[in-house]
Amino acid sequence: MKRTIIADIFNPELVGEQVCVKGWVRTRRGNKNVQFIALNDGSTIKNLQIVIDLQQFDEESLKPITTGSSLHVEGTLVASQGKGQTVEVQAQTIEVYGTADPDEYPLQKKGHTLEFLREKAHLRMRTNTFGAVFRIRHHLAFAIHQFFNDRGFFYLNTPIITASDCEGAGDMFQVTTLDLSKLPKNEDGSNDYSRDFFGKPTSLTVSGQLEGELGATALGAIYTFGPTFRAENSNTPRHLAEFWMIEPEVAFNDITDNMDLAEDFIKYCVRYALDHCHDDIEFLNKMYDDTLIERLEGVLKQPFVRLPYTEGIDILMKSGKKFEFPVKWGVDLQSEHERFLVEEHFKRPVILTDYPKDIKAFYMKQNEDGRTVRAMDVLFPQIGEIIGGSEREADYDKLLAEIERRGIPMKDMWWYLDTRRFGTVPHSGFGLGFERLVLFVTGMSNIRDVIAFPRTPGNAEF
Ligand code: 4AD
Ligand code: MG
Repeated sequence: MKRTIIADIFNPELVGEQVCVKGWVRTRRGNKNVQFIALNDGSTIKNLQIVIDLQQFDEESLKPITTGSSLHVEGTLVASQGKGQTVEVQAQTIEVYGTADPDEYPLQKKGHTLEFLREKAHLRMRTNTFGAVFRIRHHLAFAIHQFFNDRGFFYLNTPIITASDCEGAGDMFQVTTLDLSKLPKNEDGSNDYSRDFFGKPTSLTVSGQLEGELGATALGAIYTFGPTFRAENSNTPRHLAEFWMIEPEVAFNDITDNMDLAEDFIKYCVRYALDHCHDDIEFLNKMYDDTLIERLEGVLKQPFVRLPYTEGIDILMKSGKKFEFPVKWGVDLQSEHERFLVEEHFKRPVILTDYPKDIKAFYMKQNEDGRTVRAMDVLFPQIGEIIGGSEREADYDKLLAEIERRGIPMKDMWWYLDTRRFGTVPHSGFGLGFERLVLFVTGMSNIRDVIAFPRTPGNAEF
């Protein structure tokens, strides 16, 4: 008999039908006459109740049915008498696929802490919380492709292994096939990378932007959606060493177009999640943070504030608030400053623009004042920076001068500069940290809980 997934079974038209369901046992309870199993197959947060009439089953054959075991059940779908569910299955046959020894299976009881479950990352997707998080993550990924596809953007896959450092922050993971215990050396004692796999030093990418710009100046509008890697040693609830980033890049867009796109994009994703992940978001709202739905709807209601960095610094300095990191013009904003602006001062998302050039990457369009660049960071409640982007410097001479000023090796950059040598155009783009978006939409507070197998300093177990 063909299996019905549990997400499809709560359908009044199926009542009275024979059904086949498969899944994992969440709980088992009952008495001498009747037993109830809560079965979950991951397709929805809802469990399906399986009712076992003990007169029809040999008790011994039911012994292996414990929390975590996996079953194949056939029976009749009936309207439920009990509260908490609309339908249930009156079991006729039960096959146990696999047992889960109650003395060994770690997810026996409800209410494990998120910290405990992080140690059990290989099993935690079987819990309500992580089931909800990863279903929402899926729907958000789908929404992102939908958003860009509907607007004529092309999905471009940029390389994971690269020879250039896009953000210039120097926190890259090196990729090599050289034997680290006997590195080939040049005469001056430095490593001889001509003998390495690619004939030069390479790393895992920190961003697909530079290649994205090549795509945008050919296809018009592109987006990337891929893994990025940063070896920054920051053990915070918002940083991962391996995270996913979405980077749209659009020819002929200026910074205002870029801000409009970013705002539309995030609002679309949040709306999509509210529309498509109702049960899961409601569960998280109930269990972890009862202001979640309100916060999500809040973001949709109002336009984001758009504010130059210099004015943002003014507000922070006049706030009278004691920050751990003091504020003055020229400093990079910390999450405490970003959250003050968003959560306390404006009470809605803020797009901060025109940052000092020395705290931003080399490729950003230089403003006439000679000290700021056309950067834009989108700051969100609970999260801080969720998007970083800019209009790009389209002028060959200015870009070259900036690359030289920063001492970026030209041999790595000639192909990027060609976009400005041949048919250069104004263009803009940004990067959305996917996990930060998932954090916001799920209301989880640690980024390690919204990626299945987090990579952080000292942690690559699973
Ligand atoms: O601000 P970032 O560094 O910008 C770029 O990489 C640009 N090349 C993007 C572009 O213009 N195409 O990173 C973009 C976003 C951040 O706003 C943040 O949401 C996320 O990526 N991000 C991280 N997320 C998790 N862990 C980390 N270590 C992150 N670093 C950045
Ligand atoms: Mg940034």
